[in-house]
Amino acid sequence: MAANIIDGKAFAATVREKVAGHVARLKEEHDITPGLAVVLVGEDPASQVYVRSKGKQTVEAGMNSFEHKLDADTSEADLLAVVDQLNKDPAVHGILVQLPLPGHLNEDLIINSIAPEKDVDGFHISNVGLLGTGQKSMVPCTPLGCLMMLRDYHGSLSGMDAVVIGRSNIVGKPMAQLLLGDSCTVTIAHSRTKDLPDVVRRADIVVAAVGRPEMVPGDWIKEGATVIDVGINRIERDGKNVLVGDVDFASCAERAGAITPVPGGVGPMTIACLLANTVTACCRANG
Ligand code: GUN
Repeated sequence: MAANIIDGKAFAATVREKVAGHVARLKEEHDITPGLAVVLVGEDPASQVYVRSKGKQTVEAGMNSFEHKLDADTSEADLLAVVDQLNKDPAVHGILVQLPLPGHLNEDLIINSIAPEKDVDGFHISNVGLLGTGQKSMVPCTPLGCLMMLRDYHGSLSGMDAVVIGRSNIVGKPMAQLLLGDSCTVTIAHSRTKDLPDVVRRADIVVAAVGRPEMVPGDWIKEGATVIDVGINRIERDGKNVLVGDVDFASCAERAGAITPVPGGVGPMTIACLLANTVTACCRANG
């Protein structure tokens, strides 16, 4: 059976269209323009690409984009001062500090200095707690994008067995909370999980978020399962630099009922959800 391909690129385009429509109405009816501030410390090439893409899509959706590029040796005090200024700025509705930060900066401290209502990443400890207790929160963008695709494909997820491979704060843990919120039976698997292939074989939904190229082979996938591949790994293959996910696409697609490709699956949904979170933050700030 050949799997259905879940087209994240097309889905993200529809999310961005909805966001742009919402932004246009906020302008027309309330004279408000949502604003997203992105803070980049240092010159990590991958982070620079992401930040540029976020800025471009923010502007394309009709919102204001504020970019703060700081030197790699910026002190914690100086970075905290930038965040504080953004917290106080009424034109800024969403704040994102691009991770990873240089090693001398305490990521938890910086993230928790962002006003929770402007934390469009959903990484602030208050938002983590709100999500974990099923209360209204800012939801991390990548897991939110995955959930939207799963709901779109399946309708209800109630009662499904879901296995999330990876326990990061950015993807694995919030993904598990979201699936639990939709009444899945959720397992979080990780590098120490015993009998990982058998654990994954039980799943109706597999979310792979480990950052290891093509780690999940097709024979771990239950016939007809839905596979969401969060990985974006650059590898050399046949002398070429290519992007691959955390699952072996070719063999998994033979057994899965549906699968997200890399690129063109989860990736585009992440920034689309960031834009949606910024509009949500703006609406909440303005009653
Ligand atoms: N670095 C990689 N992914 C992310 C993300 O979703 N948010 C932030 N702030 N940094 C990241």
